[in-house]
Amino acid sequence: MENFTFYSPTFFAFGKDTENDCGKYVRRFGGSKVLIHYGGGSVVRSGLLDLVKASLDKEGIDYVELGGVKPNPRSGLVYEGIDLVKKENVDFILAVGGGSTIDSSKAIAAGAVYDGDFWDFYQGKEIEKALPIGTILTIAAAGSEGSPNSVITKEEGMFKRGAGGDAIRPKFSILNPALTQTLPAFQTAAGATDIIAHLYERYITNSVEVEVTDRLIEALLLTMKHETPRVIADPDNYEARANIMWAGMMAHNNSCGVGRSQDWNSHTIEHELSALYDCAHGAGLAVTMPAVFRYCMDHNIMRFAQVAVRVWGCQMDFAHPEVTALEGIKALQDFLISIGMPRNFGELGAKEEDIPKLVEVLCKGDGREGTISGFVTLNEEDCTKIYKMMV
Ligand code: NZQ
Ligand code: ZN
Repeated sequence: MENFTFYSPTFFAFGKDTENDCGKYVRRFGGSKVLIHYGGGSVVRSGLLDLVKASLDKEGIDYVELGGVKPNPRSGLVYEGIDLVKKENVDFILAVGGGSTIDSSKAIAAGAVYDGDFWDFYQGKEIEKALPIGTILTIAAAGSEGSPNSVITKEEGMFKRGAGGDAIRPKFSILNPALTQTLPAFQTAAGATDIIAHLYERYITNSVEVEVTDRLIEALLLTMKHETPRVIADPDNYEARANIMWAGMMAHNNSCGVGRSQDWNSHTIEHELSALYDCAHGAGLAVTMPAVFRYCMDHNIMRFAQVAVRVWGCQMDFAHPEVTALEGIKALQDFLISIGMPRNFGELGAKEEDIPKLVEVLCKGDGREGTISGFVTLNEEDCTKIYKMMV
């Protein structure tokens, strides 16, 4: 196990009706003027936004609103949010929605107290200061409710990039699984795929002797394997949704990633797909992960054989561990297809003729120097081959 630091200060309120306490938590964590930030309207239609306002009113907390966050959130609305926060003297940001809304809130929170362009953070500068953030989560997926990360797409050039820093970990996050019952099945499945990817990208490591985190990841993968088909079959299954929602938080607050190197090549390669085609991040990952894993597995075949045996129930072939590894990758892909995820470029809405453009932005866009690095380092030729495997 490698040396690490771990700081996860978020207060979690989990369960039915917990959204009604958001005003109380904003007060507890020092907010007196709130920006309520939300997406394209699901929280308006579900009545959640009204509940949030009622809770803030009850505590006598003033607020302004900014809706309109798109999935794969854009820089334009972030700039608008920063201006609004400064103009209205907002001192707390309340994200009501999914990962996109939370990430946009984090970008605003960091940008509002920074003299330069907030995009600097998405080009590698660590976020050290930000306004406090609270979240009310409506989809189990990105894990942004407990993570120190934010992913934004810069409209000029359509660069989708991540930023990070403990300063943007939420002060509190409210997780009511019942709020996810209104999700379309496709979004539920895309969210589950993202959770599975966050687990895999930590499992695929170059570190050794990481038994505790290996076992935690395996437990969460087994949970996702069991619970996801249950909510797809029965969207109102509160208990299955509850297990998925907490698995989503645990998958990405990094409690499963400490003390080990991590991969993230699948995420990096996928981000170009959701930037160019505006597909759901999880759907992009369903197509990306199997290709990346097949391409990279020789680097440490036993990593892939181990997850195949322990999670997917494959028989270990000691003479030919690559056979077991491949069976595990196939089992993962079959599972993702069974919950309604796409299997290739065509089903995702991606085009083979765009591959040179995807590779160019992936490897050289916005300051990158020709390679991406994770479990293995990949150059333009590698990335071209990987995208071709997805066709
Ligand atoms: O915008 P609204 O109307 O709210 O609709 C959303 C959106 O269309 C809808 N939705 C959410 N909750 C709903 C609902 N519809 C009905 N009922 C509900 N309860 O679902 C759609 C997707 O929402 P979005 O917020 O985009 O989903 P998700 O949580 O998957 O977030 C995806 C974004 O997070 C980034 C992704 O790249 C992508 O941009 N990620 C962020 C990470 C982080 N900050 O740590 C890590 C991840 O790896 C990921 O990259
Ligand atoms: Zn993800």
